[in-house]
Amino acid sequence: MNGVTIEVDGTGVEVPEESSLLTAVRAAGIELPALCSDDRLSPAGSCRTCLVRAEGRVAAACVTPASPGMRVDTASDEVVRLRRDAVEVIVSALPPRSLADGGPGELAHVCRSMGIGPEAAQGVGGRGGDESHPYVHLDRDLCIACGRCVRMCSEVQGTFALTLVGRGGDTVVAPGTGGPWAESDCVACGGCVDTCPTGAITQPGPARGLTSAFHPSQARTRTTCGYCGVGCALDVIAHDGEVTAVLPARDGPVNRGHACVKGRFSHGYRTSPERLTRPLLRRDGVLEPVGWDEAVAHVARGLRAAVDAGGPDSVAAISSARATNEENYLVQKFMRVVIGTNNVDNCSRLCHSPSAAGLTASFGLSGGTDTFDDVERADCLLVVGANPVEAHPVVGARLLRQVLHGAGLVVADPRAVGLALHADVHLRPRPGTNVALFHGLAHVLLAEGLADEAFLRERATGLPELTELLADYPPDRVADTTGVPAADLVAAARLYGRAERPAIVYGLGVTEHLHGTDGVRSLANLAILRGAVGTDRGYGVNPLRGQNNVQGASDMGALPDLLPGYGKVTDPAVRARAEGVWGVPVPGRPGLRIPDMFAAARAGDLRALWVIGEDVRATDPDANQVARALETCPLVVCNELFLSETARHADVVLPVASWLEKDGTFVNFDRRFQRVRPAVPPPGQTRTDFDTLRAVAGAMGVDLACATPADALAECGRLAPVFAGLSYDRLDREGSVPWPCTAPDRPGEARLYRERFSTPDGRAHLAAAPYLPPGERPDDEYPLVLVTGRRWAHYNSGSMTRRGGNLALDPVDFLDLHPDDAGRYDVRDGEQVTVESRHGQARLIARTGDQTAPGQVFCSFHFPASGVNRLTSDVADTVTSCPEYKVTAVRVAAS
Ligand code: FES
Repeated sequence: MNGVTIEVDGTGVEVPEESSLLTAVRAAGIELPALCSDDRLSPAGSCRTCLVRAEGRVAAACVTPASPGMRVDTASDEVVRLRRDAVEVIVSALPPRSLADGGPGELAHVCRSMGIGPEAAQGVGGRGGDESHPYVHLDRDLCIACGRCVRMCSEVQGTFALTLVGRGGDTVVAPGTGGPWAESDCVACGGCVDTCPTGAITQPGPARGLTSAFHPSQARTRTTCGYCGVGCALDVIAHDGEVTAVLPARDGPVNRGHACVKGRFSHGYRTSPERLTRPLLRRDGVLEPVGWDEAVAHVARGLRAAVDAGGPDSVAAISSARATNEENYLVQKFMRVVIGTNNVDNCSRLCHSPSAAGLTASFGLSGGTDTFDDVERADCLLVVGANPVEAHPVVGARLLRQVLHGAGLVVADPRAVGLALHADVHLRPRPGTNVALFHGLAHVLLAEGLADEAFLRERATGLPELTELLADYPPDRVADTTGVPAADLVAAARLYGRAERPAIVYGLGVTEHLHGTDGVRSLANLAILRGAVGTDRGYGVNPLRGQNNVQGASDMGALPDLLPGYGKVTDPAVRARAEGVWGVPVPGRPGLRIPDMFAAARAGDLRALWVIGEDVRATDPDANQVARALETCPLVVCNELFLSETARHADVVLPVASWLEKDGTFVNFDRRFQRVRPAVPPPGQTRTDFDTLRAVAGAMGVDLACATPADALAECGRLAPVFAGLSYDRLDREGSVPWPCTAPDRPGEARLYRERFSTPDGRAHLAAAPYLPPGERPDDEYPLVLVTGRRWAHYNSGSMTRRGGNLALDPVDFLDLHPDDAGRYDVRDGEQVTVESRHGQARLIARTGDQTAPGQVFCSFHFPASGVNRLTSDVADTVTSCPEYKVTAVRVAAS
């Protein structure tokens, strides 16, 4: 540590350079009140409760830098009195109820430590409150105008929704928009709730006053968020088996004391009356509750009958990026060991399978190249086809902070998504033209001498072929194809090309295309051309994962062609290693991908399908065809929390535990394994997916051998060298460990490819794939292009976020369209519209605005009742079968 040593009350203490005296005092183990300070924020120095004497003068510790050799006095009668006076002045303006119950908040804690009782609070109150928001309530009488909430909202969340209004003693926090909180720009990250020292801003209900720093001694469980792939570490406070609050962990490696509306607040689904708590079995066309023994026996009999009638390949399973690693491991083991087929896939097929294929082809491994901590050190960000501000809010906030602190930003996205508002250059390509756009950028890098020739010579391959191809992608021609002005393209290439440490972050706007894998590879070309991967000259190419365990589900081998750790099922040596651990032959023929499973079902070749934690009828494309497949398949088993569209039509529904109720691990978007721990018991008769798989295997006469999730991860490590160093003991000790991690005594590799790439020849591979048009194109009949994606308050099919307060934040399914198109098609803002594609029909509420470009419309898929995925096509990535969700030709008319 490059440190500074100072003396605090006669004792030497070393702290990092640029630390404050407050940090040094706390490092010395001395508690100081600091009511306007929060480690996550810049210091304000306004409350004067942290006064100390330093080098002979009285100073606010939070805003005074620790200088070498400084002597600090915190304990003299004088400074103790000054601090007490400052706290008493603050408390005197508050009403007596502010301290009446003792309270869990920081101010109450400070008062208790100083012996200041409720009688010190003599304010009259009467300033009122704001309880308009489902998750954030304001009691103005308790506001001490410390400004922590305002700084949290601007500095950490980047939303700038709050301000201080009024003068002097009447100063109080308020939404910047002036109206009720519920109508403000607040995105309910909970940062203001978590930092408020007085309980002026709280979460309603039993969590009132709880923060990550101050909470009573209720049961607290450290776990990993089960929503998106960021991997926020959360502390779940529970009482009597119920979740009281979910608090962001200050030492969370990715979230660092921050969270979003989903992880922080959206756990009401757990106790929804619609939650499934008993197995259901279809009899005479009706789903009826049955006991577990009967349900398990029925599934076992059905699977056995399917194998007997059609062979092992007439059975398939769809595993889940929502489930733990250990559950995914067990699903693929069940299919390979119990059934004897490779017919197992997971929902990354529908999102990031092109990332797996593309990144593996370019660099060798199926994951992002760098940690997000490294990405945060980049001086230029190229954010492509992603809306992290809404879909990955904690990462979105970190990226925004980086930009506000000076990093250059190029956003490539057809829509004016949140980060685009702060971009140096916003490229708005026509949906489906990414490959041309990336080639255009690469053309400029080469043409203007911005490529790293030494890197290309020593560590890459494929330059001659790519150079030849790029001759066809000059900016003017690319402008014609993509609609991006040539000058913008050149400006973006120069920004990325001239940066010292550029990084690429991308999302599903790159992958969910007919040529999604080509998109990933041609995007990776840019990092290779710049030598910005596997070096200190940049931070590579990093996919943002949509679901909590997209990375892990594939890592665990829930794929039809790959075993755990990405060994090919066609490779005899890989199979032999698995067979050595499992003790049975592993089938060598790759199994069916998800779309192929549905096609096989429609053709009558699939006799049983086990769907684990996915609402495929709502989220998979061309939903009418998916429904037909499931109706044709003789046995559909569904593990679910709720009676989803898929469960509603299944033959057996098994009620399962959610992420707050089970044990395991997830792998986040930067390849970190993190623990998932049960904070509360699962309700009713629900079981974990893990237990369900073991039970059915047992009923089929096979012992899956992994008695616990910890055993499953250990067994996976024996099959897959890249996970050999992982264990629950290690994760419990270290918090998070990235893979590859090849031995218990070796660290995981957070940054990849420092010495060589993991391709067979050790080099990065440039790809020379030409641009090819998307599968769907608008015409006179269907003149608009529909793009689907997420909105901030909801998650995927919405089965969790629509059951709770989030529904109040975002209650209806909108179709966003440009005012020009609204005029052209005679659609008014707020009215119901019918959207029609060549495949189906959906009904949504029109919302006009210029976030969406003319000729395009946008909607989410959070409300299955709207039928959005009846619109999308069966066009899919030519390499991986990932659906072309981002390009559907539609027409719109008022309903
Ligand atoms: Fe130091 Fe408020 S915490 S002045």
